[in-house]
Amino acid sequence: MNQYKVGIVGATGMVGQRFITLTDGHPWFTTVVLAASSRSAGKTYEQAIGARWAMEAPMPEWAKSMTVMDAVADAKAIADMVDFVFCAVDMKKDEIRALEETYAKYECPVVSNNSAHRFTPDVPMVIPEINPEHLAIIDAQKKRLGTKRGFIAVKSNCSLQSYVPALSPLKDIYGLNKVLVCTYQAISGAGKTFETWPEMVDNVIPYIGGEEEKSEQEPLKIWGSVQGNQIVSAASPSLTAQCLRVPISNGHMAAVFCTFERKPDIEEIKKIWKEFKGRPQVLNLPHAPKQFLYYFEENDMPQTRLHRMLEGGMAVSVGRLRPDTQYDLKFVCLSHNTLRGAAGGAVLLAELLCAEGYIDPK
Ligand SMILES: NC(=O)c1ccc[n+]([C@@H]2O[C@H](COP(=O)([O-])OP(=O)(O)OC[C@H]3O[C@@H](n4cnc5c(N)ncnc54)[C@H](OP(=O)(O)O)[C@@H]3O)[C@@H](O)[C@H]2O)c1
Repeated sequence: MNQYKVGIVGATGMVGQRFITLTDGHPWFTTVVLAASSRSAGKTYEQAIGARWAMEAPMPEWAKSMTVMDAVADAKAIADMVDFVFCAVDMKKDEIRALEETYAKYECPVVSNNSAHRFTPDVPMVIPEINPEHLAIIDAQKKRLGTKRGFIAVKSNCSLQSYVPALSPLKDIYGLNKVLVCTYQAISGAGKTFETWPEMVDNVIPYIGGEEEKSEQEPLKIWGSVQGNQIVSAASPSLTAQCLRVPISNGHMAAVFCTFERKPDIEEIKKIWKEFKGRPQVLNLPHAPKQFLYYFEENDMPQTRLHRMLEGGMAVSVGRLRPDTQYDLKFVCLSHNTLRGAAGGAVLLAELLCAEGYIDPK
């Protein structure tokens, strides 16, 4: 397989730190640029991050001494040094949109964790196992941007990384009419730890800004189709979501209720989940979980602490599938929000883009 030089834009953030640990020792990717705001630029990565390193693994030696570049002012120089960038920055949406387009126009593909471009019609929003065919829109996007190799591809929000994968194969087989979901989301999703957010100890906050809209709207783009030079969102199912912040370090759980067009069979669904494979499994990508969807028969599983790290935090755990009194079925599911739900999902997307020839080394 080809080797790729990678830049991490937003390297000092929570997601950026994950990118550092996930690219450390990666068989295809070598991180050669770390970039952040002008506050961090010019410092070594170790100085810039100070006490903010929040990963379980120690900071890799190669990262410590790397000089942080300015993600905005040095964009051209960064684009010239790398084959593509991962991007996860905390800026205003219009600034992020402009920054990502700047990199793309400098002929540098952008694999983004940010939400700014998720609803740009020719930007694919991809869960690699679910809608890899949306990458075909990249040609139309390049035409609009006037680029040869530069484009933007995004991953979807962390809240839906458990229930969209579980529902997708059922949607194809039984037809999905209606979904109600309640998410229980970890504090790392807000870039926080219990040290930096002590108010979350022994507490639940019933509001996460913008999250319910994303949880209801993004699945429809993922389930949509490429039509001409845009991705058209699916018209159904109708979705409603409530998203709660809970006192958990990592791992988003979702309680799901759903109604189908055709009568579903519980044992058949378990078999469908067990046998479900996507493009990453077929291509045997480095971060692809061997088993994507795990079903647990035990009544008290999956559990966040026990199962969020299944397959390196890249698998989805499902349990408690049973009939409901108002919907056809209900179940719970779990995914690791900063691995599968953020940096890990973006690394898997980058692996897919490289394996499918959308990103070539320069
Ligand atoms: N946390 C999650 O689980 C999660 C999941 C999915 C998506 N996301 C998305 O990923 C993005 C980053 O989230 P995060 O939790 O990693 O945020 P974070 O911890 O607050 O980190 C933000 C990063 O952005 C950089 N930055 C801030 N202002 C900048 C500017 N003006 N120019 C260039 N860089 C700037 C920061 O650099 P300095 O250190 O120099 O300030 C830092 O590297 C957000 O869009 C978020 O919505 C997060």
